[in-house]
Amino acid sequence: MADLKTNICGIEFVNPVFTAAGPTSANYEMLERAKLGGAGGIVTKTISVIPARVPIPNISNFTPNNLLNAELWSEIPYQKFIESELKRIRSLGLPVIASVGYSPEDLEILGRTLNGTGLIDAVEFSIHYVDKDAGNLRTTALALKKNINVPVLAKFSPAVSNLPLAIELLDDVIDGYVAINSVGPALDFDVETGKPFLGSMDGRGWLSGRAILPIGLHFVASIYSLSKKPVIGVGGIRTGEDVVKYLMAGASAVQVCSASILKGQNVYGKIAGDLNKWMDKHNYPDIKSLVGKFHQQEMRKQYFLFEDKQILPTVDLSLCDKCGACVKICVHNALKLNEHLELKKELCVRCGICTQVCPTGALEMKEE
Ligand SMILES: Cc1cc2nc3c(=O)[nH]c(=O)nc-3n(C[C@H](O)[C@H](O)[C@H](O)COP(=O)(O)O)c2cc1C
Repeated sequence: MADLKTNICGIEFVNPVFTAAGPTSANYEMLERAKLGGAGGIVTKTISVIPARVPIPNISNFTPNNLLNAELWSEIPYQKFIESELKRIRSLGLPVIASVGYSPEDLEILGRTLNGTGLIDAVEFSIHYVDKDAGNLRTTALALKKNINVPVLAKFSPAVSNLPLAIELLDDVIDGYVAINSVGPALDFDVETGKPFLGSMDGRGWLSGRAILPIGLHFVASIYSLSKKPVIGVGGIRTGEDVVKYLMAGASAVQVCSASILKGQNVYGKIAGDLNKWMDKHNYPDIKSLVGKFHQQEMRKQYFLFEDKQILPTVDLSLCDKCGACVKICVHNALKLNEHLELKKELCVRCGICTQVCPTGALEMKEE
């Protein structure tokens, strides 16, 4: 059995699959279910100085694996959250990361209130609503850091356009990163009535779930390249393999939000179990052996090969069951299914999508 323990800023977690700030981490009862469901760590719903007034409705099932939400932050006053929720959440025995937001003034107050309570192991501040002024980012981080003595993590919004600048401004202030928050603004509505599915003023909300996984991976991989501080990945995680990708991109742990809403609170343990099986099968003994693997040259050789003009989809006829999935997906009509699958080289533009849709692994991009 692989060792799933992970360590972030000196905090030891039994496995790397945590809750994320959201409806499934809003109170003690939710988080008790998350613990029973196998979560390795707890991140609580964001609290702020003014409780949120959340529009109704605020979650829409955009596709089976994606959500749109307009939920904002916690509706519970922060003093009450700390007194009545956080104290009980602490008793669950898992490491606790409190999520806080948003302005420097808010973070000063929340930092001072949480400091010395012994109820949390770390704090994560969300930059979701911090304006794009880079200077403000540093001021916000400093406001929290100066007022609390547990590790401070910055949770990035995917709206951050200049990652190197953001890291430069934050890296000497904070202790680690979380990426990413939901993506948006985003809009969807009923075509018959024109009524948005979300009750926010303008009908807009934020996209999360499966579709945002590649954006999350991009952020984690970029932060890993730019900073030596630990990163926690979040965005679109549903399976053990998704976690492997985040770890390889550079994360030391992950958080799961949408999948816990769509599939229930057992999802954390299920994902951690799948991760364990994958690691055993691929001979990775511990989390450390996976972290940052994507950045190693031998891992990315394949990627560089794809730029070579001599690379073509090549069929292994012994694996091809002639299902026709590759023929259907090829917009250039370069694949034909006669007696065998055949490639018309002169039509193939080497995009590679046929190799991705092949369910049997019969197609591979290879040197001619
Ligand atoms: C309904 C809902 C509420 C959320 N509330 C918060 C929040 O209060 N604070 C925060 O930092 N992120 C919040 N998020 C963002 C998630 O923590 C997470 O970063 C994002 O959804 C991407 O992960 P996922 O694809 O696993 O959902 C929320 C997401 C959803 C879907």
